[in-house]
Amino acid sequence: RRIVILISGRGSNMQTLVQACREQDWPAGIAAVISNRADAPGLAWASGQGIATAAVPHRDYPTREAFDTALAEEIDRHAPDVVILAGFMRVLTPGFVRRYAGRLVNIHPSLLPAFPGLHTHAQALATGVQAHGCTVHFVTPVLDHGPVIAQGVVPVLAGDTAETLADRVLEVEHEVFPLAVRWLVEGRARLGEEGRVEVEGVA
Ligand code: GRF
Repeated sequence: RRIVILISGRGSNMQTLVQACREQDWPAGIAAVISNRADAPGLAWASGQGIATAAVPHRDYPTREAFDTALAEEIDRHAPDVVILAGFMRVLTPGFVRRYAGRLVNIHPSLLPAFPGLHTHAQALATGVQAHGCTVHFVTPVLDHGPVIAQGVVPVLAGDTAETLADRVLEVEHEVFPLAVRWLVEGRARLGEEGRVEVEGVA
């Protein structure tokens, strides 16, 4: 099975997927890493690993629809079974989301449905929650919504800043994301007909 990963920046989550895929002998390979930013550091890293990379700069396109069409064309050149959003910072159109329904997954740095959107760690601190974390979910047309595959939970500690909290959440992202994507490529996690996630062997 073939995985295409979309990133916008650093790409640390993408790196954990590349490494887990190799070390744990997944029944899948990374077919390509694609970014909406040609200068994304993660793109250079992937290229250095011998992985196919491409940039589809969103600024080159007049509308979201035109960008998403170009992005889908690039993705489809690599014939993926699953498409993974790993720090991909563009909102996708409903047409794009429908095209990859059931095989499009995102990681978000909060315990959804709490704190969709940006600045999730600052939002968590401002709200005073005691637990925070990350969510891996199937992508639906509503931003940062969609059936949950897995979550990782961390405590919010006295004295936390958005940065210290982000670091703690990122550690758990790096544990949960490879696990959830592995379930997906192995066919153990599926988007069921009712729009609910079915994970084999997990109650
Ligand atoms: C992660 O916190 C991810 O959850 C969020 O953006 C960050 C990307 O980090 N969507 P990286 O590029 O994977 O290092």
